[in-house]
This record gives sequence, C-alpha cells and structure tokens, in this order.
Amino acid sequence: TEGKLQLVQKHIRAFPDFPKKGILFRDICPILKSPAALTAVTDLFEEHVRNHYQQVDLIIGLDARGFLFGPLLAQRLGVGFVLVRKKGKLPGTTVCVAYDLEYGTAEVEIQEDAVAPGQKVLIIDDLLATGGTLYAACELMKKQQAEVLGCMVVIQLKDLNGADRLKPHGVFSLLQY
Ligand code: PRP
Ligand code: HPA
Repeated sequence: TEGKLQLVQKHIRAFPDFPKKGILFRDICPILKSPAALTAVTDLFEEHVRNHYQQVDLIIGLDARGFLFGPLLAQRLGVGFVLVRKKGKLPGTTVCVAYDLEYGTAEVEIQEDAVAPGQKVLIIDDLLATGGTLYAACELMKKQQAEVLGCMVVIQLKDLNGADRLKPHGVFSLLQY
C-alpha cells in the first residue's frame, strides 16, 4: 500500500495561481498518463471498498474528473457507474442541485431513473476542496432516496475543511495536502 501511494503521489503536479491567483492547483493528468499509477489508484480504492463495505450497488462519479477513476473502480467491483453532470448535459428527466465552488458556482444533475430508492452508493471524484461538489452529489442521492455509504477522492485539500461539510458521510482520500 505504501509503495502504491508513493507511486500515485509521484504522479501529481502542483500549479500555482491556476485557474485563479491564490489557488495551488493539483494536477492529476500524470496519473492518467501512467498505466502503473492509474492501476495503483484503482487498487487502493478497491482495497478500501472491499475492507469497509459488504454491499455496494453503484459507483457515482462527478463531472469531469470523477469520470476518470469511477468506471475503473466500478468494473473491478462488478457494479454499475452513474454520472453526476454539470447542468444541461444529460437527456431525459433530471434532478438538479446547486452548489458553491472554490472558484465559482454551478449546478449538478443526474438522470431521474439513474439511482433507485434504497440503493447503496459510493461517490467518487478526483479531489476534495471545499466539499461543495461532493455535498451537492450527496444531496442528489438524498433526493433519490439512495443510501450514501461514503465519498472517495484521490486528493483531499485539508485546509479547506471539505470533510466537515460532508458529515455525517465519511470521506476516504488516498493523499492529503
Ligand atoms: C473540481 C474537482 C472537484 C471539485 C472540488 O472540479 O475536480 O470536482 O472541483 O471542489 P470542491 O470540493 O470545492 O467542490 P471543477 O468544478 O473544477 O470541474 P471539472 O472537473 O469539470 O474541471
Ligand atoms: N486542483 C484540482 N482541482 C481543484 C482544485 C485543485 O487544487 N481545487 C478545486 N478543484
């Protein structure tokens, strides 16, 4: 596990003042470029899920970078993957929640029939900052009467206290900055 975490950490870059002055942007693109690092991320997530949850019905991924890691994990677990998208991208009847971002505001939505009442779901994204995005996804799940087992991210930015916002749901992160 330590070796895998180190491998993942080696594939994260930091860019000062992106996309705005004062934000140190953690870039996960090198992880995607390295098959070994991407496998390590998936291994670590899978290990966590198998150690902590008896039953998972769906993996819920957040637009856009949750889409990079979520389907790989869902395939490992043999469960489906559902997209939470920025507003206006999904066809059919959708359910919508508004939220604040570290740098802006937005709305996310899912297809109304994507999750059934009582289904046990895990929500995945690349990074936890203020927690606004994951909180909105949790609200969407609440609206659909799904049971959120927890949230999972590759990176947690600790100074922004996003985990507080997600209580009572826990957040599992591979790396903390
Ligand atoms: C980033 C990141 C998370 C979210 C974290 O996505 O990928 O989804 O912000 O911030 P929060 O914890 O303060 O909500 P972004 O909204 O920049 O969109 P993108 O994935 O489309 O680039
Ligand atoms: N890096 C990548 N995505 C982000 C960040 C960051 O520092 N903050 C909010 N979304």
